[in-house]
Amino acid sequence: MLLAERSCWAPASTISRGRSSRGGRGAFGPRASRGAGPHRAKGGQKVVVEPHRHAGVFVARGKEDMLVTRSLTPGESVYGEKRIAIPSDSTTSIDVTKSTTEYRVWNPFRSKLAAGILGGIDNIYMQPGSKVLYLGAASGTSVSHLESTNRVANTVAAVEFSDRSGRDLINIASRCTNVISIVEDARHPLKYRMLVGIVDCIFADVAQPDQARIVGINAHPFLKNKGGVLIPIKANCIDSTAAPEAVFASEVQKLRAERVKPKEQLTLKPFERDHAMVCGIYERAA
Ligand SMILES: C[S@@+](CC[C@H](N)C(=O)[O-])C[C@H]1O[C@@H](n2cnc3c(N)ncnc32)[C@H](O)[C@@H]1O
Repeated sequence: MLLAERSCWAPASTISRGRSSRGGRGAFGPRASRGAGPHRAKGGQKVVVEPHRHAGVFVARGKEDMLVTRSLTPGESVYGEKRIAIPSDSTTSIDVTKSTTEYRVWNPFRSKLAAGILGGIDNIYMQPGSKVLYLGAASGTSVSHLESTNRVANTVAAVEFSDRSGRDLINIASRCTNVISIVEDARHPLKYRMLVGIVDCIFADVAQPDQARIVGINAHPFLKNKGGVLIPIKANCIDSTAAPEAVFASEVQKLRAERVKPKEQLTLKPFERDHAMVCGIYERAA
């Protein structure tokens, strides 16, 4: 994919603090700075950062609107993402201190959760303080944004079974103090039971035909009653011969069998093709 396609995505004012308009690719903005240095809010180009409806997530409004999370390590890019430094003047009667708050741009072409948030997802079942079990963390780019939104020690347990991605994940986790990296197969949760306590939410992006079962075998030991489940479903990965809508419907039925009560389903267009995000509540057996 072209770099320009992966940099910015929304023309000014298309990201609402509440629901966004679903669909429409939007304009593409300037190229990502690829971790060179933060984009400062200069006099000529004013950038204003506002809290998003989902706590811990922000919207940077400038020439293009961008989803951002607060940087926990100002001055450093975690994986080469674009950053924005917003001046925050604090004035006391004694002195005037100029400081900046740095935000990391969260690219929806690289993160299905970011794509879901821009698509107007109602509930992400996580907020500052939540504990999240993230299955299919890949190299940890999305996970690094979750640690910024949740901001509590050891808040995100990230599971990835590929050695190659696992190495990148360990590297990112070494810079993100709130992330525990677990290089294991999510089909064997007993192998990491010592590292994961009870969590508020499971985000499962393993893109496997048996992903509903993988969610179930992780929810039963780790997810609290009424905890949230978010699952991006890539129709092709489940059944490349069936219509995407039929695949999504059948996955929802499988999730019900795992005691996940579906609450919401949305397409991840325009950021992903033939993907749906299904969100639900886990209901532990009495
Ligand atoms: C679609 S990618 C995840 C992308 C990632 N969530 C992100 O936003 O950057 C799916 C990942 O799940 C991993 N995966 C697939 N099956 C798995 C399993 N059984 N256990 C752990 N990881 C798995 C793959 O290696 C791959 O890195």
